[in-house]
Amino acid sequence: MKEKSGTFSVTRHFDESLAAKYERRIRLFCPSYDALHQMVISWLQDLPATADVLSAGAGTGAEIITLGASFPFWRFVAVDVSPDMIRACQARARDAGMAERVAYYNGRLQDYKPTTAFDAASSIFVSHFLKERDVKRSYFRSISENLKVGGVLVLADLFGDKDSPEFKNLLDAWLRSYALHGVSDEELIRDRMHVERDVDFVSESELAALLCEAGFSRPLRFYQTYLFGGWIARRVA
Ligand SMILES: C[S@@+](CC[C@H](N)C(=O)[O-])C[C@H]1O[C@@H](n2cnc3c(N)ncnc32)[C@H](O)[C@@H]1O
Repeated sequence: MKEKSGTFSVTRHFDESLAAKYERRIRLFCPSYDALHQMVISWLQDLPATADVLSAGAGTGAEIITLGASFPFWRFVAVDVSPDMIRACQARARDAGMAERVAYYNGRLQDYKPTTAFDAASSIFVSHFLKERDVKRSYFRSISENLKVGGVLVLADLFGDKDSPEFKNLLDAWLRSYALHGVSDEELIRDRMHVERDVDFVSESELAALLCEAGFSRPLRFYQTYLFGGWIARRVA
């Protein structure tokens, strides 16, 4: 799909230069990034020993590398619209000795049409970049259609009701914590603008409604750090 100039482009944003820096920057941005990925393990540990797992918006492969180390017979498909992030993910999987267990699809998750259904899927820090409700809905719908009935989704995203006083409190505290890492004023201004302009915040109730419409059970929140939330839901139909 052609992207309009001047609007936020995921592939332009997650290009080669960001793919290289992503591992460091995301940990400054989300101080519990590694803890979140570790917490995913406990939600998925009842899956079969040879489970198939879809990593939607795989990025540089954090979910795949973490889960792959704990579950040595699971197979993964990494789907990502950015060729640079997919390349970085491939290199990490190879370095982790997982090359045989990971397949790749470079494109939008909404266009990915696998022939077999997955036991579980993760979507970590992806759907907050999808601006229109219809696009979010079809993204979640694509995940649910690619899962077995009863299959588990681990979702994590920035969220919140922008008009609420809690939102402003959490945003300010989050950016103060980010600034503590010695981030330059220039970087701070640029990143605040990126969040305000490019992230599509939805309230938890709206997110739950979107997931239910897409065929998931009501999501259960198991994680929160500032405006980052994490939920677990199952495909019900
Ligand atoms: C912030 S990164 C998160 C990567 C990884 N899940 C993590 O936890 O570090 C978001 C990724 O989602 C990808 N992405 C965004 N929209 C997508 C879509 N519709 N389909 C597939 N990938 C998408 C981006 O290219 C980017 O690599």
